[in-house]
Amino acid sequence: MDEPRLRIDIFSIFPQMFDSPLRESILKRAQEKGLVHIQVHDIRAYAEGKHRQVDDAPFGGGPGMVMKPEPIFAAVTQTLGYSLEELERLRREARIILLDPAGRKLDQELARELGAERRLALICGRYEGVDERVRERLATDAVSIGDYVISGGELAALVLTDAVVRLVPGVLSNIESVEDESFGAYLLKYPRYTRPRDFRGWKVPEVLVSGNHQEVELWRRNAASERVAKLRPDLTR
Ligand code: ADE
Repeated sequence: MDEPRLRIDIFSIFPQMFDSPLRESILKRAQEKGLVHIQVHDIRAYAEGKHRQVDDAPFGGGPGMVMKPEPIFAAVTQTLGYSLEELERLRREARIILLDPAGRKLDQELARELGAERRLALICGRYEGVDERVRERLATDAVSIGDYVISGGELAALVLTDAVVRLVPGVLSNIESVEDESFGAYLLKYPRYTRPRDFRGWKVPEVLVSGNHQEVELWRRNAASERVAKLRPDLTR
């Protein structure tokens, strides 16, 4: 089979969190089609010592544990095929993304930018903390999925992965769905209806059952922009 268009390596101390999300629906299909290759790596497997310790107490004291740098550096460099001495080259050649609430906020533009890459490495930290040297010396980017705190980077990595993978050409069976979504540069869908035409007296707009495709198209465009103006005026900038 051809090389996948995009390779995503995910680094976590909870690799099982990825099991079912990666095995369902679009993410599953994209991998089965060979368009993307997604691999989850257990950071603990790269930790030294009998206990394979991945975190430790913070210097300076205080509550919580901090994820140690060595297993994360080892996992990422070894998986991507570089030595620790080649860090600078690695960081020039790959996007290494730390999921972090202090990062660049994920939006459709960033998803498109990342979707154009060939290879992504996603580092999932636990929210209590990751040794700062991971951000400063290993990661090339930090990405946040929004201004709220979740317990760790795993769910954020899944959100990012889904947003990026669906943009890889060939992943969505229907090219239209991508075009539709960006139409008018708007992210919100126009209102959709399916059978029944009349549900408890709530009727489907007449134009949608008129059979007039031009009229339908016009209605959808208007409805989408009305919806954006009303609900998300910030999207029009
Ligand atoms: N880790 C904890 N909260 C996060 C967020 N909002 N985005 C990315 N990673 C996170």
